[in-house]
Amino acid sequence: MRKALQVGLKGHPHPNPPVGAVVVQGDRVIAQGWHNGPGTPHAEHMALDACRENAAGATLYVTLEPCCHTIGRDGNVRIPCWQRCLDAGVTRVVIACADIDPRTAGKGIQHLLDAGVSVDVGVLSEKAIHQQRGFRSIQTAGRPFVIHKVATTLDGHIACEGGDSKWITGEKSRRAVHQLRATCDAIIVGVGTIVADDPDLTVRSVPLVSGRQPRVVVFDRSLRMPESARVARQGTVIVTTSDAPGAATDAFKQKGCHIIALDADTYTVENILPMLADIGMGIVLLEAGGVLSGAFYRARYVDEVHWYIAPKVVGGGNAPVGLAGSPLATRMNRAIELTQMQMHRYGVDVCITGRPVWEGREAES
Ligand SMILES: NC(=O)c1ccc[n+]([C@@H]2O[C@H](COP(=O)([O-])OP(=O)(O)OC[C@H]3O[C@@H](n4cnc5c(N)ncnc54)[C@H](OP(=O)(O)O)[C@@H]3O)[C@@H](O)[C@H]2O)c1
Repeated sequence: MRKALQVGLKGHPHPNPPVGAVVVQGDRVIAQGWHNGPGTPHAEHMALDACRENAAGATLYVTLEPCCHTIGRDGNVRIPCWQRCLDAGVTRVVIACADIDPRTAGKGIQHLLDAGVSVDVGVLSEKAIHQQRGFRSIQTAGRPFVIHKVATTLDGHIACEGGDSKWITGEKSRRAVHQLRATCDAIIVGVGTIVADDPDLTVRSVPLVSGRQPRVVVFDRSLRMPESARVARQGTVIVTTSDAPGAATDAFKQKGCHIIALDADTYTVENILPMLADIGMGIVLLEAGGVLSGAFYRARYVDEVHWYIAPKVVGGGNAPVGLAGSPLATRMNRAIELTQMQMHRYGVDVCITGRPVWEGREAES
């Protein structure tokens, strides 16, 4: 299953989940497959088609419940994955987790059991659910899964007074951030960060997980991003308002940027995120400064936090902080807490990761 999880990452299947499958005959792996994207074969089909020998009596390991769909996205009739396993003579199917898509949800497992196939469910399920969190967020919440990454000094600053910010953390932390970026569909920043730092926002010095650079999304209401900005390139998404100057809009379009323009009164994180899901973003990495990051927390649209802390202080009451704007809590017993908290060391830096607990909490006004 560990191998199936690994090969599952080879595809870039949004809006479908990443799925990997491995066929084992006796003690030998005889094939593997993954889902490449909508309209292409599912991982089980790809693996069973690739078998170097007869799969009769084999075990298939798959990271998601085999599907029951008989009609593909192209409208053509297709063999559902549970049936394909049966046709190949597979006698045991090991599944990491059940599907939440109502078209399958438990039915794929039931079909296999009814046909006499031995089925085990729940092997490395936490890892699989983590891998599928973009797909699951879109299915359940209609928006991408949001990871917030930030680096602060020990005294909580994301830059010095005056704006200098390079570098807060060391090389090992920055490498870990590139690894995190490589697993995301997009990196979100506010125009404040573009103006201050002109970052490149690419994955560098680590392998790309799915062979594709994450796209960049800039939140920029009045299109004040300089045309010369490094991120003003093919594929970058600029979310702006219909009041933005037409000449600037045209200039960015010429550079291959994708412009999303909302009316000013509907320009909110809540309205924008589902639009990012619609253009192929399942997992997004928020790497903004305090102003936009604060807006995401106030919208409660942060699902996972990676907070890097460097053992240094800069002081200064006006130096920017990780979350700006109105407070999330005005009493300590109302603070947003993290669950599933983990701590990692990168050289001298520390990174705390976890999931904010939003459920059952009223927003403070
Ligand atoms: N250490 C770190 O991890 C880190 C990371 C990123 C940035 N930084 C530092 O942060 C500083 C920049 O901070 P910043 O807060 O200005 O950057 P930011 O949060 O990336 O950008 C803020 C800007 O985003 C725009 N925006 C668009 N939609 C928004 C919305 N719904 N809510 C709020 N803002 C929205 C606003 O400008 P408009 O109103 O014009 O649209 C706002 O001024 C720089 O010094 C940079 O070096 C540090």
